Amino acid sequence: MARIGATANGGVNRQALTPEDTEGRRLLLQWARARGYTAAIDPIGNLFIRRAGSRADLSPVMTGSHLDSQPTGGKYDGVYGVLAGLEVLETLDDHNVVTERPIELVVWMNEEGSRFGPVTMGSAVAAGAVSLERALATNDARGTSVSEALAQQVAQLAPLESRPLGATGHAYIEAHIEQGPVLEQEARDIGVVSAIQGLHLYQVEVRGFEAHAGTTPSRHRKDALVAASALIAKLRAEVADPADVLRFTVGRFEVAPGSPHIVPGKVTFSIDLRHPDPEHLLRTGERILELCAGEIEACTVCAKVMLRSSPVQFDTRLVAAVRNAAEHRGFGYMSMVSGATHDAKYMAERTPTAMIFVPSEKGISHNELEHTDDEDLAAGAQILCDAVLAAAAMEL
Ligand code: HGY
Ligand code: MN
Ligand code: MN
Repeated sequence: MARIGATANGGVNRQALTPEDTEGRRLLLQWARARGYTAAIDPIGNLFIRRAGSRADLSPVMTGSHLDSQPTGGKYDGVYGVLAGLEVLETLDDHNVVTERPIELVVWMNEEGSRFGPVTMGSAVAAGAVSLERALATNDARGTSVSEALAQQVAQLAPLESRPLGATGHAYIEAHIEQGPVLEQEARDIGVVSAIQGLHLYQVEVRGFEAHAGTTPSRHRKDALVAASALIAKLRAEVADPADVLRFTVGRFEVAPGSPHIVPGKVTFSIDLRHPDPEHLLRTGERILELCAGEIEACTVCAKVMLRSSPVQFDTRLVAAVRNAAEHRGFGYMSMVSGATHDAKYMAERTPTAMIFVPSEKGISHNELEHTDDEDLAAGAQILCDAVLAAAAMEL
């Protein structure tokens, strides 16, 4: 899978609904069809690969993650959960395990939210948190819409059954790399994830006035870049957290018109704000919106809320099943809250949900150097298999 969209530095660039994303999904479908699994797709492009149970009328136990990546992503973010899920289905085949419930592997569309915002688009639409219409109408930087790109991908992956929006199941368990340093620092093999912290995504626009770089004195300038830089410094000072729990990131910063000889007339930048406490996250978000309004350095500022994803707690019975599996298998484990967001966040709002983490080397992720050792990957897949079977037998 990592050969598809492989980058020169050992990572992958398989952004949502690109030809590389389609190729990755096609490869997965090839592996799945070779095993006789069925495949369906919903209106926002979430893929459902099903291993039949003895009772087709029962709701499925679901697992999965995403195949799309960041532009300079690693080989494991998302992909691990999809391939560990496939490994579980195939292992059940190889051991002739018949479950009453169907087991479904889900590949969520556009988890990374880089080409098309917001992040976790497919699972958010499936949960009704983002409207299908708004998502389909979203354009990338070149003006291609989700709707156009999705229609192309679906045509290339045909034939696929159609699945209505609103995927829910009996349970959902997602395996993922931790993307942080904690498991490695604590020398544990398995993260028993109890919750995901909240995430707010804002888009800020600073408008000044384009002017000649050579003839315009400073006192006459409305320089959007100078204003945006001052605003970001002010925001960082305002949200500074001595406990270093709050996460404030400006990851995208676009200057227009972008000529070296024109005083910038417009700057657009993103704010990714995260915190495990919902109240603190909301208060900090409100403060940011207050500061991103009105005038700064002779320029005007406005901000748009792109996403407000509240913290979510996972189902304690499934979390216990993950913990018991790690205990039984003799792996070192610890309970943790996820710093990264995942599609499991939206599944947790409608289906008993839990997650399993495996260590990330030096905590590196959203970086081409991302790495996890094979034995850690295998341990996580084993725990996923145990937890999926436990969930299949539970009354939830
Ligand atoms: O940003 C996130 O938390 C996810 O990895 N896309
Ligand atoms: Mn991910
Ligand atoms: Mn990611």
